[in-house]
Amino acid sequence: MADLVFLDGKFLPRQRAHISVQDRGFLFGDGVYEMIRASGGRMFEPDRHLERLESGLRALRIGVGTPSRYDLLEIARRLLEGNGLLAGDATVYLQITRGAAVRRHNFPPDATPATVFVSAATFLPLEELRHRGGSAITQPDTRWSRCHLKTVNLLPNVLAKQAAVEADVTEAVFVRDGFITEGSSTNVFGARDGELFTHPTSNHILPGITRAVVLELAAEIGLRVRETPILAAEARDLDEMFITGTTTDVLPIVRLDGRPVAGGVPGPIALLLQERLAERLEGPTRPLPLREVVA
Ligand SMILES: Cc1ncc(COP(=O)(O)O)c(C=O)c1O
Repeated sequence: MADLVFLDGKFLPRQRAHISVQDRGFLFGDGVYEMIRASGGRMFEPDRHLERLESGLRALRIGVGTPSRYDLLEIARRLLEGNGLLAGDATVYLQITRGAAVRRHNFPPDATPATVFVSAATFLPLEELRHRGGSAITQPDTRWSRCHLKTVNLLPNVLAKQAAVEADVTEAVFVRDGFITEGSSTNVFGARDGELFTHPTSNHILPGITRAVVLELAAEIGLRVRETPILAAEARDLDEMFITGTTTDVLPIVRLDGRPVAGGVPGPIALLLQERLAERLEGPTRPLPLREVVA
């Protein structure tokens, strides 16, 4: 199967796509990214993802030569089609950096074009784990105070996730000032007495697209929701705990720091939200309008 990617205006095989050693994404982690889920060739909530990407670009003042939202969508659609991903589950990855220039900390010369990379790959949802439930460890949240930006600076997330892998658990959950903020690549929810809790959107968490959809689904179901952070010390007293993310969907967490949460089994709220999210992901199939945008 073809593995085409898009880099700086061209579609080319992945093994022929190379980034400059002067790229500021490589040198400084100076860029933003997005991961969009696709099911049957249909991207899930693409506008929300691209809005988040654009707001990150604006916050970091990266703008030279960045494609429009429409063009990014067309590029993604062409990759899904070109790579034979119109059936089944896939992910689209987009990364935009401040471009390549002589290494210095301040911004490069005004005309330096951004580096734009887009790829699409097949994806296997964690079906079995989703039904059985996963486990997590807590880790101190040592990240900067602009976690709402989806930048490629992910070192604390990388180290936390590695700690999770070494502890043989699914996810690492960050704790700041005693409160759970979010996971290394997920948002965290708790449920108690039929009420849902999650950290409010702030500079301390990424405003997850799945989080936003789950809040909508919770409202549809008629669940009460409180956007207040969960005290880590009280997490094991929750009736349910679960994490959400683009490639995680809704995943019940049944063990935290080696001890059972919520009796050690997935709870009914997480399972219902999982089902409703799957329905939204599958959605109505619609044909992909394709248009030539890039030579
Ligand atoms: C730190 C962090 N929090 C939350 C999420 C979940 O966000 P989304 O639902 O948009 O995938 C991610 C996804 O990568 C993340 O990196």
